[in-house]
Order: sequence, then C-alpha cells, then structure tokens
Amino acid sequence: MYNSMKRTLRPLYTLLLLLVGILTIRLVLHQNGSIQLKYEISPLQNPKKPVLNETLLRFAAIDIGEPRLKQEIEDLLEGNFRTRGRQRSFLSSGKYHIDVRLRTARGTPLQLRSPEFYRLWLSFRRYLGDWSRKRRFYSDTMSNLVNEVKFLIDEYNGKKGSKGLYKSCAVVGNSGILLKSDYGKLIDRHEAVIRLNNARIASFERNVGKKTNISFVNSNILHLCARREGCFCHPYGVNVPMVMYVCQPAHFLDYLVCNSSHKAPLIVTDPRFDVLCARIVKYYSLKRFVETTGKDVGEWGPAHEGANFHYSSGMQAIMLALGVCEKVSVFGFGKSKLARHHYHSNQNAELSLHDYEAEYDFYRDLMERPQVIPFVSEKFRFPPVVMYH
Ligand SMILES: *[C@@H]1O[C@H](CO)[C@@H](O)[C@H](O)[C@H]1NC(C)=O
Ligand SMILES: *[C@@H]1O[C@H](CO)[C@@H](O)[C@H](O)[C@H]1NC(C)=O
Ligand SMILES: *[C@@H]1O[C@H](CO)[C@@H](O)[C@H](O)[C@H]1NC(C)=O
Repeated sequence: MYNSMKRTLRPLYTLLLLLVGILTIRLVLHQNGSIQLKYEISPLQNPKKPVLNETLLRFAAIDIGEPRLKQEIEDLLEGNFRTRGRQRSFLSSGKYHIDVRLRTARGTPLQLRSPEFYRLWLSFRRYLGDWSRKRRFYSDTMSNLVNEVKFLIDEYNGKKGSKGLYKSCAVVGNSGILLKSDYGKLIDRHEAVIRLNNARIASFERNVGKKTNISFVNSNILHLCARREGCFCHPYGVNVPMVMYVCQPAHFLDYLVCNSSHKAPLIVTDPRFDVLCARIVKYYSLKRFVETTGKDVGEWGPAHEGANFHYSSGMQAIMLALGVCEKVSVFGFGKSKLARHHYHSNQNAELSLHDYEAEYDFYRDLMERPQVIPFVSEKFRFPPVVMYH
C-alpha cells in the first residue's frame, strides 16, 4: 500500500520539480529595517560545469618550463644576457654586450653603458620584475580584458568612456584555407577585426579583408621589428594598436625601445592571461594525448617538448576576442591537405611546440559546449563563436 503510493507520487513529484525548479526563498534585511521576501527559482537543468578529470586538471596546472623561465628572469635581472641555448638573444656574448642592431626610437644604435642604455636598463628591470611577480594563475582574468585592452584602444581612438564590448569581432588567422573563399567583405563587416603576427594583407584583400583594429603578435615579431629604424612594425598602418604576448623575457627590452616610438598603444598581455591560456591548451593537449595514444599522462612531456610547449598566437587572439566582443567569428584557422600552412608565405611546416589538434578540440568546445572549458571562472559568460572554413 505504502509502496504503491510512493510509486504513484514519485512521477508527480518529479514533474513538479521539473516544472518549478528549485524554489529558493530569501529574507532580505534592508538597512532601513524593512524586511523583504525574495523568491528565486533556479531551473534544475542549469548548465553547471561538468565534473572534469582531476588528474588532467592537476597535470595541466604544472608548467614544466617554469623553473627555466624563473632562472632566465633571474639572470636577466642580474644583467646576464647570455644566450641560453634556446633562441638567439639580441645580446650576442658576455655581459652588457648589446646587439648593435637594437636601435633607439631615433634610430641610433644603443651604446653599451651609455646613459641611455642605463635608463633603459633600469626600466627593463622594473618592468620585468613586475611582470614576473604577477605571472600566476587567476581564473577571473577574462573579465579584466575590457579594461586592460579595449579601454586603452577606445581611449586612443578618441572614444573615451565608450562602454561595453565590441558588437562583433573577426579573428583572422593565417591558414592557407583562406585562399579558397572570398571572405574579405564579410570580415570587414565586423566591428573589430583582429589580425595575427603581421601577416600581409596587400594583394589578398578579397580573401582576408583590409580592415584591422587590433594587430595581435608574439614578441618574436616585435623583436625583429626592433632592428628596424624607429622600430617600424605596422603593416596595417601606424594607427593600429598592437597587443603582444611575451614569449621570452629578454624581449621586454624590445618592448621598451618600441613602446617609446609607437604612436598607437602597444599593449603587453597580462601574464595572468598568458597563464590561463597555457593551462587551457595544455589540458586539451593532455586529454588528446591520453585518448589517442592510450599512454600515461606522465608521458606527455617528452612527446610534446614539455618545457617549450606553447599555445599558438591564434589561440590567445581568440581568447582576447572572447573577452572583448559580444560575438566572435573566426576565419583562417584549420588546415587542409590542399592548402598552405600560411596564406601569405610558402612555409609549410607547423611548429612542433604547438598542438594545433588540441587547440581545434578547444575551439569545438567553445562553439558547442563552452561550459566544459576548464580554468575559466564560472562568472565569465562565453560569447557565441562561429568558425568559417
Ligand atoms: C582521468 O584521466 C586519467 C589519465 O588519462 C585516467 O587514468 C583516469 O582514470 C581518469 N579518471 C577518471 C575519473 O576518469
Ligand atoms: C576599426 O578600423 C576601422 C578602419 O580600419 C575604423 O573605421 C573603425 O572605426 C575601427 N573600429 C573600432 C571599433 O575602433
Ligand atoms: C608605453 O607607452 C605608453 C604611451 O606612451 C605609456 O603610457 C606607457 O607608460 C609606456 N609603458 C612603459 C612600460 O613604459
């Protein structure tokens, strides 16, 4: 009797719960002494973060390159610029032997131990020290992008006080697949267009458009520009703001030299934003590694040049767009057997320090189920993302 009643009641109860969700009643005590009753119905099926695999999360949070980076920063702060075997440094050998190709804003080579170099050196130390201290994980860093990037750009464009996000953004990657479609006009119709690593647009306008609002680069690009007179680094025009992430701490010297000559803002990404991007890509790379190879997650490091592993510039440019735009369209990401690696060059090889496949997995989640993306604060709302192939 009791059992049969429970059976008939259960579906009814479930239905009721599904209809109303969970009713929360809150008593709100106001400062003036009045009491207000507040009802809140939270739907049962709110898209909460699913449970993610703890092992992968833990491994993704380990930065294998961290000790080496710390050492590199320490050496630089002490004035030791020797090349550390990775990439050639602009300071060729010994202490304070500065590459003559590094020029000041006025185009004169910087002299060793000149007062000018000494001033630069002091700012470099201060700036690098601040950056290094700030470089840690902070899940809510996406919410800072509007202030750190869009606000500065609006101010430069005379739109001070403009609130909110860009209505729509196009992130234009450099994949050769861009050449098979004429997306130029569609790209230019977005309120803000973000381009990558100074890829040439001249003679490709039909495919890639001609408008640029943010030029996103890695610091290797600026390092090359720093050798030119006046640090010319503007294929899209001198008024186009640049956003750059630093891939080698020594590049802060290039930044300081170039920042003083650039008219438009030259914004270095918040190191906490870099750490967030690194963790997300590593998570997807680990996940892909264990799923496709069946190997233990601990074997990921040797297989992916662990300490050199890095997200691609394109990935961070998309992350930036997620933080400053209401809608994001992505062009020129992905590959095809028939297409070149880059639309504007004959370089065919992909860099092995990136895991493009893992980044594509991340983009799929962005489009289809952003709630499963790890490490990003639940407060952050991902905008809709569309990828054009
Ligand atoms: C999480 O991933 C690791 C590594 O692939 C695997 O060994 C473990 O079984 C997974 N844990 C769960 C709860 O799925
Ligand atoms: C983007 O750039 C174009 C010209 O290149 C400019 O007309 C437009 O105002 C810029 N948009 C924003 C939001 O700054
Ligand atoms: C870079 O230049 C801008 C504009 O001139 C200036 O406000 C900013 O302080 C500079 N940054 C550094 C680190 O010198």
